[in-house]
Amino acid sequence: MSDTQIHTGDALKSLKLIESESVDLIIADPPYNLGKNYGNNHDVKGFREYLEFSEAWLKESKRILAPHGTIYVFMGFRFISYLYDILDQKMGMYFNSWITWHYTQGIGKTKGFSPRHDDILMFTKTEQFKFNLDDVRVPQKYYRERNNMNGANPGDVWAFSHVHYSNPEREEHPTQKPEALVARMVLASSDEGDLVLDPFFGSGTTLRVCQVLNRRSVGIELNPEFVVKARKRLAKPFEGFDTVDPRADRIPRDLPREELAEAGVKQMIFMEGKTEYKCVPKSRP
Ligand SMILES: C[S@@+](CC[C@H](N)C(=O)[O-])C[C@H]1O[C@@H](n2cnc3c(N)ncnc32)[C@H](O)[C@@H]1O
Repeated sequence: MSDTQIHTGDALKSLKLIESESVDLIIADPPYNLGKNYGNNHDVKGFREYLEFSEAWLKESKRILAPHGTIYVFMGFRFISYLYDILDQKMGMYFNSWITWHYTQGIGKTKGFSPRHDDILMFTKTEQFKFNLDDVRVPQKYYRERNNMNGANPGDVWAFSHVHYSNPEREEHPTQKPEALVARMVLASSDEGDLVLDPFFGSGTTLRVCQVLNRRSVGIELNPEFVVKARKRLAKPFEGFDTVDPRADRIPRDLPREELAEAGVKQMIFMEGKTEYKCVPKSRP
């Protein structure tokens, strides 16, 4: 059912073509201005120039977002606080969550602490926004009476490993994001049939997740070579997401599996790979 629209070119120009209040969810993973090489665009702008660029695309994003809509913005340490300020003070949007993506592995520092996280800001357009908590719960550590038998809120620290270069699902893109991480945003903040926008789609992670989860999507990407590769990715058969929240492997400490099954605990079904979303890695037995 899902349909995917692709624009090749500059996000700012393409965003201006999108109708006001027509998008339910925006997932934006812009260049962080840390000097990455994205082929036909090099991620190095002056400090002011980068802030002006950020303000311009965020202003258009707010315009096209539906009143119940949400925006998630990935960002590195250098500009995250400035982005917060733009969304909060300049755009007047509503802060919801400052999510830490803990990526569990990465480059090592010999002086100082090796970086192991990026941040994701979640803002909503109004105070009346969609949020499907039951679709993103994770297994509880304990199933005592006071705990929700359908699992726990995933919290604002999300552990997902990078899609490693040795993973067959790894695309030729320097900053590919894990599918299960993006799926959590899509499931929490949109419904089937909704329209999701990714203004900097890179390897096409958001478009792929939306295809699997029956959302419509619109994506923008400046490098035509990435666009060609993303189209190929979308044409591949789906065999499970490329990553999984390690908490899906939790064995609750106070109830045997049979009792959980009888209680209809959703995450145990999820854990066995039987949900309609198939949030399990291919390698899981
Ligand atoms: C951080 S990456 C996105 C990675 C993506 N989330 C994924 O999972 O593959 C940022 C992308 O933005 C693209 N880009 C840079 N400037 C752009 C612009 N002005 N408009 C559209 N895309 C742009 C880059 O080519 C790069 O692929």
